[in-house]
Amino acid sequence: MLEKTLQEALKIVVPDAVEIEKGRRAEEILKSRLNNILEGENIDYEFVGSYARNTWLKGNLEIDVFLLFPEDYEVEELEKRGLEIGKSIVDRYELRYAAHPYVHGWVKDVEVDVVPCYKLKNPEKIKTAVDRTPFHHRWLKDKIKGKENEVRLLKGFLKAGRIYGAEYKVRGFSGYLCELLVVLYGSFLNVVTAGRKFRRDTVIDIEGKTITRGKEFTVVDPVDKKRNVAANLSLDNLARFVQRCREFYEHPSILYFIKQPYKNITNKVVRELEKRNVYCLITSKPDIVEDNLFTQLDRGCKKLFEYLSRLGFRPVRRIYFSDGKRCYLIVETEVENLSTVEKRMGPLFEDEENVKRFLEKCRSRGQKPFIEDGRFWVYAERKVKNAETAIREFATREWKAFGKDLGKTVREEFNVVSGKRIVEYCDNFEDIARFLGIIPDLGFIE
Ligand code: UTP
Ligand code: MN
Ligand code: MN
Ligand code: MN
Repeated sequence: MLEKTLQEALKIVVPDAVEIEKGRRAEEILKSRLNNILEGENIDYEFVGSYARNTWLKGNLEIDVFLLFPEDYEVEELEKRGLEIGKSIVDRYELRYAAHPYVHGWVKDVEVDVVPCYKLKNPEKIKTAVDRTPFHHRWLKDKIKGKENEVRLLKGFLKAGRIYGAEYKVRGFSGYLCELLVVLYGSFLNVVTAGRKFRRDTVIDIEGKTITRGKEFTVVDPVDKKRNVAANLSLDNLARFVQRCREFYEHPSILYFIKQPYKNITNKVVRELEKRNVYCLITSKPDIVEDNLFTQLDRGCKKLFEYLSRLGFRPVRRIYFSDGKRCYLIVETEVENLSTVEKRMGPLFEDEENVKRFLEKCRSRGQKPFIEDGRFWVYAERKVKNAETAIREFATREWKAFGKDLGKTVREEFNVVSGKRIVEYCDNFEDIARFLGIIPDLGFIE
């Protein structure tokens, strides 16, 4: 059963001959263009990442080319030359941002990243994160030989569970992390077997081959001991991984390699939205890199949630996402409307000074304070009674809470919609359904 499942899974994760040939052709072209343009220059290039190691996932062909600049290059010069070279070796491109801006382009319809970095002797002296990548490649290159498809099984297993990728949007496992785990454990199945026991404080030292306990889930980078390769993996995605490993281990199935599509969830979502208090704050998407955007969405959504909590709306859950144009911050609350009056706490009766001040203030407003349990209280009219109004208030007054760029767009314009009207404004039914708890969180069949 297990053997057969893995055989089947290989068909899903291993690229076919056509895809491999497509990659080889693009590689050839890239190399000849690079050799041409770099002739007589002291800039080197290196193919790194999953293409160079034969570990890319079927259907996700992408070539990573790193340009290695001598250390004495000024950063500005490296960025300028890096882009020039990148642009000139691809057929078409767009700009992306990592440590430096870089070219994400296409050669014969194959995706290519052309990333500039410094050529260093010692990985501990790195200037930026990308400088580590060539060292990662050299460390892995030979160790991963013969285990390429094990890496692909792991990537496919994670991707189907929506936890592949270290970018902020996913906060899952990076390709490099997958390869390190396969190097340490030897096979996909061994990773899964071990993964069932991972804890939030597990510390895995790849080089030292030791598993200990520490502060947080850590995979020590063999190339730079100070760095945690799993730093971007969220606690919840670690938990999803562990549970996925346990369940696959007990009931191996090909379904763990196929992203489960959810059909006809729109009606369920609408029905659920009708009976619950769900609010969606919509604003336009600022033109910034994804990691940056998601950091601001994350923080902004958290602040909105805390605000609703302070006011007494009892928020239960929050999510955020973005399409190409708009950002959506969604909160569900237990309370839609609060009572018109609010019981406000005053000082203890012994505290004469403050009692005096409290009573003066209350009386000047025509309020009638009272004593209960040894302290003063007063009923006051609640300013914000409705959750949707509260969200509008927050966005209008506290737009700064949404961060540098997102705050600006919220200040310019936003909209709040609630209940089933949300589906008229956004079509990400899958994330909403998961948020509402009406489809499985783990991404596979119940
Ligand atoms: P990739 O994201 O392309 O990962 O980064 P990968 O290992 O090739 O896996 P897949 O199969 O494409 O998903 C390749 C290397 O480039 C570095 C990463 O450290 C990674 O090791 N990199 C990539 C950056 O440092 N910054 C980037 O923006 C992109
Ligand atoms: Mn890659
Ligand atoms: Mn990638
Ligand atoms: Mn890449």
